[in-house]
Amino acid sequence: MPERDVALLGCGLIGQSWAALLLAHGINVSAWDPDGDALAALPRHVLPMLDQLRALGVAAAEPGQIRLAATVEAAVADADWVQENAPENVALKQRLYAQVQAAAPADAVIASSTSSLTWSALATGMARPGRLVTAHPFNPPHLMPLVEIYGTEAAVVDRAVRFYQALGRETVVLKKEATGHIANRLASALWREAVHIVAAGIADVADVDRALVHGPGLRWSVIGAHLAYHLGGGAGGIGHYLQHLGPSQERRWASLGQPRLTPEICQQLVEGIAQEAAGRSIATLEQQRDQGLIAALTARQQLSAGDDHAV
Ligand SMILES: NC(=O)c1ccc[n+]([C@@H]2O[C@H](COP(=O)([O-])OP(=O)(O)OC[C@H]3O[C@@H](n4cnc5c(N)ncnc54)[C@H](O)[C@@H]3O)[C@@H](O)[C@H]2O)c1
Repeated sequence: MPERDVALLGCGLIGQSWAALLLAHGINVSAWDPDGDALAALPRHVLPMLDQLRALGVAAAEPGQIRLAATVEAAVADADWVQENAPENVALKQRLYAQVQAAAPADAVIASSTSSLTWSALATGMARPGRLVTAHPFNPPHLMPLVEIYGTEAAVVDRAVRFYQALGRETVVLKKEATGHIANRLASALWREAVHIVAAGIADVADVDRALVHGPGLRWSVIGAHLAYHLGGGAGGIGHYLQHLGPSQERRWASLGQPRLTPEICQQLVEGIAQEAAGRSIATLEQQRDQGLIAALTARQQLSAGDDHAV
C-alpha cells in the first residue's frame, strides 16, 4: 500500500479503533486531539484492540509506530492520508479541513468518518473539494469490516477503495451521497420500528433485541435483505416472492410506526436497556460484543477461504 503515514484527527471511540487497525497493518499513525487526556490515553486504548486483531491473524511483521502530535499541523505535515474522526459538527469539521489543507502534503486524501453528514456539506469552502471523501466505518472499525465511501473525484475514490481494502475492509462506494450513507439508513429504519414496537407495547426492549439477534440479524450476517427474499421465493426466487408475498410486504410497510423520541419513550428505552443489560457495565457489554464479533469473523474467514462468493 502506498500510504505509510496516516494522520488521525480526533482520538475518541472511532479514532482509537482506526488507530489499532492501521498500526496492526504496519502503518504509522500521527494522532491529534484537542483534549490532551484523550490524546495521551490513545496508546493505552489501542493495546487490547491490537490483541484482538492478532487473534484474527492481523499483525504486520513490523507494526506501525504511534506518534502523539501537539498540533493539527504537526499531525498532518507528512501524512499520506488524513482520517478525520472529530465530533459530528459541520462547522467544526470545516474549520479542521482548512487547517489540514494549509499544512498537509497536497496529495494527501482527507477522509471523514462522519456517520450522517453529507460530503457536500463538508466539502463546502474547500480549495480542492475532490480530495475529500466520506469514509464511514461501522463501530468498532478495527473489527467491523464495512467502510462506505463517497467522493466526487474518481481517482481519489479509487485510491480510497484500495486503501481500505488493503486494511482488510469491505468497501461499498455510494453512487449518490445520502444522509446516513447506506448502513445507517438501514439501521435507522430498523431501529425506528424497534422503538415503535416498544412504544406501542407490542414487546419489551430485550425481546425486540432477542427477536432481531436470533432471527433476521443472524440471517443478515450471512446474506443480505434482497438475497434473503430471493430465497424466500423458493424455487421461483425473487420473482415468485414478489408476486406471492409482495402485497403482504406492502401491507407491513403501511403498518410500520413513526415514533417520536418523547421523554416518556426515552424513559421506557432507558428502563428496558437497564433490564436487558442486567447489571453489565458498558465495558463488559463491549467485551462481550467484541468476543462475539471475533468468533463470527473467524467463522467467516474459514468459510470464505478460497471462495470469493462465500458469505
Ligand atoms: N460512535 C459511532 O458509533 C460512530 C461510528 C462511525 C462513525 N462515527 C463518526 O466518527 C466521528 C467521531 O465520533 P466518535 O464516536 O469517535 O466521537 P467521540 O466523542 O468518541 O470522539 C470525538 C473526539 O474528537 C475530539 N475533538 C473535539 N474537537 C475536535 C476537533 N476540532 N478536531 C479533532 N478532534 C476533536 C474529542 O476530544 C474526542 O476525543 C463522528 O463524525 C461520528 O459521526 C461514529
